[in-house]
Formats: sequence, C-alpha cells, structure tokens
Amino acid sequence: MQITDDKLITEAIKVASFAYAPYSQFSVGAALLTTDGRIFCGCNVENLSYGLTICAERSAVFAAVAAGCQNFQKIAIAADTDEPISPCGACRQVLAEFHPTLEIILANFTGKSEQFILSELLPRPSKGILGRP
Ligand code: THU
Repeated sequence: MQITDDKLITEAIKVASFAYAPYSQFSVGAALLTTDGRIFCGCNVENLSYGLTICAERSAVFAAVAAGCQNFQKIAIAADTDEPISPCGACRQVLAEFHPTLEIILANFTGKSEQFILSELLPRPSKGILGRP
C-alpha cells in the first residue's frame, strides 16, 4: 500500500503529542518513511540540561536504525506553528548521513505543508573522514 504524504503528516502530528517538552512547551513530531514502506516516528525529548535535548527528527532516525532500517525515502516534520517548521542543522546533517537527497515534508498542525529535498536545505553536508583523499 502506498503511504501518502497526508498519512505521513498525520503521523507526525500524532506523535508530536508524545513530546516531552516542559522547558520550551514546543512539541514537534516526525514521521520517517522507509523504502520498504514502514513508518518510524519520533518526538522531541528535552532535558533540564538543555543541551541533551533530542529533536523529533533525530528521534525518528534513531528509532528506525535501532529497528534495523537505514533506507529512507521521505520524512514529514510537524509542529503547531503558523508556517511549516524547518529542521535544525544537526538534524539535517544526521538525515544527510543516510540520504543526502531525502524528500522532506515540512508541515504545521493545520496541514499547511511545503516539500523540499534535503540537499536544498543542506547543500554541502559535512563529509568528515569521508572527504579524505
Ligand atoms: N525541535 C525539534 O524537535 N525539531 C525541530 O525541527 C526544531 C526544534 C525541538 C527542540 C526543542 O525541544 C524544541 O523543539 C524547541 O526548540
């Protein structure tokens, strides 16, 4: 069965309700679609040591990898904002590790959405040791 963009956005909105965000009061959800049609969801999980906070996007990626999936086709990211949310630089880099041209749907809770490919949002991802001659 084909997973629609609407379904992915709905899943991202749903999982945002599980966010642990007592400090920012800003809940974010992400739904990551694998190439074999599975969906892995993630939400942001904050910590009183603020820097330990993990974003929804990375939560979704780590859940997928921990379940044995590393091949992704699309991610929907949603928050209760006027305009569709946009992922932070750290999450862009983590997504690029697995798929530099991943399809990205940015959405708000009213269903307003925009589509990008990751390389538009992160044109020159760090290649780290992969960039060595
Ligand atoms: N956050 C995400 O989970 N994803 C984003 O794309 C933007 C920011 C989280 C981190 C923090 O818990 C809260 O939103 C406020 O920045």
